[in-house]
Amino acid sequence: MNSLMSKKYQVAVDGFSSCGKSTLAKQIAQLLGAVYIDSGAMYRAIALIALRNNCVEKDSVNKDCLKPLVENVKIEFQPSDNHLILNGEDVELEIRGKEVASHVSEVAKHGFVREKMVKMQQDYSLTNSVVMDGSDIGTHVFPNAEVKLFLTADPEVRAQRRFYELKEKGMEQPFEEVLENIKQRDEADQNREIAPLRKADDATIIDNSVMSREQQLEHALQIIYVKLGEAL
Ligand code: DC
Repeated sequence: MNSLMSKKYQVAVDGFSSCGKSTLAKQIAQLLGAVYIDSGAMYRAIALIALRNNCVEKDSVNKDCLKPLVENVKIEFQPSDNHLILNGEDVELEIRGKEVASHVSEVAKHGFVREKMVKMQQDYSLTNSVVMDGSDIGTHVFPNAEVKLFLTADPEVRAQRRFYELKEKGMEQPFEEVLENIKQRDEADQNREIAPLRKADDATIIDNSVMSREQQLEHALQIIYVKLGEAL
């Protein structure tokens, strides 16, 4: 696997929300020595900008309000802890909150938002091997990625995990509400017009409903080593 060090490659980890994509993608990136990019966090950051600048009216986005903010946005990931830095400010905690979660799908469906995010995501890969998680990475951002994984799990299982995650962070929410938010996001992400959440034809499905994190990682690594071995 020495060749992994010299040639740049892309690993796409797509799938439904709250499926553990970021946990898996982070572990993979660390083991491979690649850069981890959380593309969902980028859309969350745009939702945060929209909310902070009152660009969200009821449930819809005022494009004239949001466009100039998106054009000039700077998004970086702090190497030490992967925190998202939005225009110089660490907003990691805020982008994980309830407000952002309930508006992010609406914000992420707009072409001008997606174009800008995709361009930034592709630019990150010019200088680094990347492991990127999201919903359109294998289909749109990196259609030629060496490895494409697609994660899925039962909505109830995902809601359970998200429920405990929020509780741990002191952001507790009723289980039913968490489940409803997950179902709504599945629906919105799969049905948005531009770059909907979809498995790429050449992606490998991992259903982790009954897998531990360790089992999932082991399974993913087996796939990755075969695919990268073939490609590099
Ligand atoms: O993975 P996540 O829950 O942090 O993603 C937040 C939202 O952003 C989710 O509703 C789907 C959307 N998203 C997207 O539209 N495109 C991506 N590449 C990643 C996430």
